[in-house]
Amino acid sequence: MKTNKASRQDRRSFFRIAGLVAASAALASMPLAARAAGAAAQKLKIGVIGSGRVGGTIGELWVNAGYEVMFSSLDLEHDKALAARLGAGARAGTSRQAGAFGDVLFIAVPYAALPQVGRDLGNALKDKIVLDACNPFPGRDGEMAIEARAKGTGIASPQFLPGARLVRAFNCVGYASMRSEAHRAGERLGIPLAGDDPAAIQVAVRLVQDAGFEPVVVGGLARAKDFDAGTPIFGIPMTAAEVRRTLGIGS
Ligand SMILES: NC(=O)c1ccc[n+]([C@@H]2O[C@H](COP(=O)([O-])OP(=O)(O)OC[C@H]3O[C@@H](n4cnc5c(N)ncnc54)[C@H](OP(=O)(O)O)[C@@H]3O)[C@@H](O)[C@H]2O)c1
Repeated sequence: MKTNKASRQDRRSFFRIAGLVAASAALASMPLAARAAGAAAQKLKIGVIGSGRVGGTIGELWVNAGYEVMFSSLDLEHDKALAARLGAGARAGTSRQAGAFGDVLFIAVPYAALPQVGRDLGNALKDKIVLDACNPFPGRDGEMAIEARAKGTGIASPQFLPGARLVRAFNCVGYASMRSEAHRAGERLGIPLAGDDPAAIQVAVRLVQDAGFEPVVVGGLARAKDFDAGTPIFGIPMTAAEVRRTLGIGS
């Protein structure tokens, strides 16, 4: 049974998410500066699970956009140093602490670590919006990656993260491009998204925009296969228009 404290936290998290979803529609048409101010006002909390190249890069972009971010990995000292460097808005914790802290979670660990992450997060995953950037590579992740590639990550990842409202995001562009191209002038770097939960997709769209990119909603989780490792789009930085053209989807 949940404690009163836990259910109060759940309620606060629910209202922050609901507020963000409602505000997203209104903010979509606003200029960028106003959007960033809106993000800060919402004070959405994000738990980053895996604070390496991808988690560290995207988490930093969210801190800069005004979000509260807790970084976690297997190395708490690394995360404390990262949070200290990023200053107000950033903090460090264990995976469990980040899971409890975040209204939204961003997972960026080697694919083979996903089952363990799912077990560590446990109940914290229930009904939580989770952005998943993890890619299966058999050479790194072993046998389970072959199975995940065959199914597609949109089908494979939810099996490791039960109860989560999963969105595949930030998986198909290299971290160095995401770091150097965020908020660039002109046409922004396109970030494909796939998810089955409309509210989760809306939140992911907003988080991609606030990180400095243009989201492209490709479809439901089954469509994540279209931008998994090994597809023509994977690893190639593209504008959103190029992503749509390559995937044959309308604007
Ligand atoms: N590199 C890219 O350009 C890129 C782009 C898009 C997507 N991806 C995908 O994103 C994922 C992360 O890639 P990366 O390049 O960021 O890897 P990375 O730099 O090696 O970072 C991985 C992070 O995951 C943490 N971690 C590992 N096992 C964990 C566990 N059981 N619980 C919690 N944290 C754990 C690591 O912690 P420790 O350091 O303490 O071990 C590290 O912070 C991969 O699946 C990758 O395929 C990578």
